[in-house]
Amino acid sequence: MEGSRTPREEQVGIVTDLATQLGELAARLAVAAGKLVVEGRKNGITSSSTKSSDTDVVTEFDRASERMIVEGLRAERPDDALVGEEGTDSAGASGVRWLIDPIDGTTNFLYDLPGYAVSIAALVDDGPLVGAVYVPSSGELFTAIRGRGALLDGVPIHCGTTAKLEHALVATGFSYLVDRRRDQGQRFAELIPKIRDIRRFGAASTDLCHVAAGRLDVYYEQWLGPWDWAAGELIAREAGCRTGRFDGGPLDRTEVLAANPALFEQMVELLAVTEPGHNPGIM
Ligand code: IPD
Ligand code: CA
Ligand code: CA
Repeated sequence: MEGSRTPREEQVGIVTDLATQLGELAARLAVAAGKLVVEGRKNGITSSSTKSSDTDVVTEFDRASERMIVEGLRAERPDDALVGEEGTDSAGASGVRWLIDPIDGTTNFLYDLPGYAVSIAALVDDGPLVGAVYVPSSGELFTAIRGRGALLDGVPIHCGTTAKLEHALVATGFSYLVDRRRDQGQRFAELIPKIRDIRRFGAASTDLCHVAAGRLDVYYEQWLGPWDWAAGELIAREAGCRTGRFDGGPLDRTEVLAANPALFEQMVELLAVTEPGHNPGIM
């Protein structure tokens, strides 16, 4: 299988499988892009514009990061399909599709707050096969390959064991669109008396990695793009978390719940009764 070896592997005579190769590539590019945006930001942000609303910002560094990742993928995987949040959308013939969030947590990046990340996932048969999330502020690299566990800087991580909702530390996020935020805020107000506390860190991919590492018990959010959660959800699942839609069903692209197995069903029930418009008197 000459074609499945990277040049370095050819040199030293190592043969690795596709998932390992894709995982290494995702991790390498996530770290390189993360370093690029950190370096770039040191000279300030000179160009930014808005997308879905006045507060949904994209900077020159979101674009530069996506460009670097796309160029890197095209150089090594010319037949793969690529989708990036900042506009990349190209078909491929290999059956591998990449989902790229070049800066997840752009609002943090804008304000020079920690916690933003570069998130890259490769999907095969539409399921995430590998994921890499690099968090420049902490230098942490979260990775996973389907069926092989989740790693933080190469060391296995596992979700937490909190079993009671009232002890659960829960993270969420809010849409950039005002009507959606209003609904999310209503649910949040209902939910917060029933849990330990809430966190809003500002990057979906990082939130999912925190659940994977047992630093949070639960993460839930609606109206995400697939690039927001593809890598982090695989990392959470491979760390032993349960993931799904708010009703517990298989994930689609708009809502993600991730929790340790003891809390997952409890969270599904809580999300149902805290849904805006839910009326317990009406069956
Ligand atoms: C956003 C972040 C945020 C989440 C938003 C996302 P972006 O991604 O992940 O935490 O609440 O829903 O859109 O715009 O910073 O890449
Ligand atoms: Ca994002
Ligand atoms: Ca983004």
